[in-house]
Amino acid sequence: MNVQIGLEAKGREEVSKVLNQYLANLHVLYTKLHNYHWNVEGKGFFQLHSKLEELYDHTAEELDEVAERILTLGFRPAASMKEYLSLATLQEANSEAITGDNVIKVLQGDFATLIGELRAALKVADDHDDQVSVDLFVGALENLEKTSWMFRAYLS
Ligand SMILES: [Fe+2]
Repeated sequence: MNVQIGLEAKGREEVSKVLNQYLANLHVLYTKLHNYHWNVEGKGFFQLHSKLEELYDHTAEELDEVAERILTLGFRPAASMKEYLSLATLQEANSEAITGDNVIKVLQGDFATLIGELRAALKVADDHDDQVSVDLFVGALENLEKTSWMFRAYLS
């Protein structure tokens, strides 16, 4: 038991693990969003160039919040590109021209992966009575689900 925040060590460790997985994916996503911000081409350039900037700015805030939650739970967040790439389930993308439709299709797939993983992570946090991490995951899911709807709307 950590007397300061009232959670058992085992639970804090399990929740830190799933937070670290999410943190690693956020770093891959952050880089990939920059990649597409730079490499998207075609008629929708100006719109997507700006939207991708909005998404990576949000991702930067989110990854800081996740890392600091891990520290709050008494563990160290992964903090190197090497660790992120070994932990992440999202794939990086090459630096090459890409159409707006393909950007959104790839991101739609990545967001679906994140949504699935966050639902599982939320259960881990809930099983260990870590309501603050549950809240973090719910907030992340709400945002990913809403953006997924926008991706669907874009492609329809
Ligand atoms: Fe830029």
